[in-house]
Amino acid sequence: MVHNGIIENYDELKAELQADGHEFTSDTDTEVVPHLIEDAMAAGHDFEAAFRAAVSRLEGSYALAAVTADAEAILATRRDSPLVVGVGDDAAYLASDVPAFLEFTDRVVYLEDGEFARLESGSWTVTDDEGLLLEKSVSRVEWDAEETAKSGYDHYMLKEIHEQPRSLRQCLRDRVDELTGSVDVEALEGLSPKSVQFVACGTSYHAACYGAHALREAGVPSQAFLASEYATAPAPVSEETLVVGITQSGETADTLAALRQAERRGVETLAMTNVVGSTAARECDRTLFIRAGPEIGVAATKTFSSQVVACNLLSAAIAERSDAREVVGALRDLPGQVQELLDESHAEAVADRFLDSDGYFFIGREYHHPVALEGALKMKEITYKHAEGFPAGELKHGPLALVTEETPVFAVVTGDGETAQKTIGNVKEVEARDAPVVAVTDGVSEVGRYAEEVLEIPETHPRVAPMLANVQLQLVAYYVAKKLGRSIDKPRNLAKSVTVE
Ligand code: M6R
Repeated sequence: MVHNGIIENYDELKAELQADGHEFTSDTDTEVVPHLIEDAMAAGHDFEAAFRAAVSRLEGSYALAAVTADAEAILATRRDSPLVVGVGDDAAYLASDVPAFLEFTDRVVYLEDGEFARLESGSWTVTDDEGLLLEKSVSRVEWDAEETAKSGYDHYMLKEIHEQPRSLRQCLRDRVDELTGSVDVEALEGLSPKSVQFVACGTSYHAACYGAHALREAGVPSQAFLASEYATAPAPVSEETLVVGITQSGETADTLAALRQAERRGVETLAMTNVVGSTAARECDRTLFIRAGPEIGVAATKTFSSQVVACNLLSAAIAERSDAREVVGALRDLPGQVQELLDESHAEAVADRFLDSDGYFFIGREYHHPVALEGALKMKEITYKHAEGFPAGELKHGPLALVTEETPVFAVVTGDGETAQKTIGNVKEVEARDAPVVAVTDGVSEVGRYAEEVLEIPETHPRVAPMLANVQLQLVAYYVAKKLGRSIDKPRNLAKSVTVE
């Protein structure tokens, strides 16, 4: 039995099975399922009927696959948890996500909730919950196997950081008109909401913060919500609200719950996702694919930068801006600038210097605020060290109490406008407390004068600079984690797709 998800009524089922003499060998919720199957087989059902009978007793979310020692088939089903069938020439595959079998086949059948798959060597069938045969279409995914290999890099995360020039180009391909600064994305045609609400988790939430800021700046009321909060405490909507779910995997349970919440209230939904065929892509009214290619490392890297680019596309489709042409020009130059940064970055030396620090702080204002949040998330997720990101102005409202010479502060500052000056003011505050400052900055800002280390980024439009700054912070987190010997691609306690609420 393989199970992804949570069987919510397992206590009750376990008590019932134990009363009937079943002996359990683990504390997992999963174990009730094979016992239920055993029970039904003992009552005379064949394996398939027993599997269906067991599943009919379950409450919760699950992707399940079952096999017996002498069975010729693998049986599988799903509810609120992803499950896909890979169709090979002489084999069939079952996985939660396509990259797992991409090495063997690029043909995929997406299972819906309540459907049952039966896999035998070289053949597969899908039936509904009453056993009726369904005609499922086979989709071909555009990703190729090479994209899921490490290609000489020590870790997928490093490979994916280095793939950003390419993934950003893919995200932009055929979607922007450099002459007019307009965007041409089919999924966004005719979109004219009066307000926008973003729902997302983790890294995708940070992209959502960026997107909401970009729309607000263009005069469209817009907010980013953590999906897990929105699912139970949604914000008021009108008929002209658009709810955008940002989700790399398209399978994050909290984000799906928030989107379903929006759908129940009758508002238009848009999925901004990386995975064609994912649940979010299938359930939302519109879909904007970020085209980042498969991301294997648990830490999201290239998908964040593509999400931010996609937020720019979305914002341009919804609201007219006087600087549209400049932004499009800067986006066009972005992949090359990321490459330049990757070639020249000395993030590894910075990581070396601050390896033993007690904790790390990340500050930035406005468009750099999401980067500060993301820098901290990346750091804590893969190094297991304490890291916190916040808007620079919040520093003196509490976090400053934690700032010491053992807590480097990464300050993201670009340009020389009022916002940059204010952040420099905050930098001086931490410097006065002997905290080492690492400035992530362009050649314009004078913040470097107050910093012990400078991580430079190429000069660009203020809306594009955050993506470059973020690449420097990805590299710092990566090298700290590497030097500490952490499990970078699979950090403890974390999963790539979080399919339970
Ligand atoms: O697939 P999603 O974008 O919906 O995933 C959301 C978060 O679980 C994800 O971004 C998580 O925070 C990353 N592992 C962070 O690197």
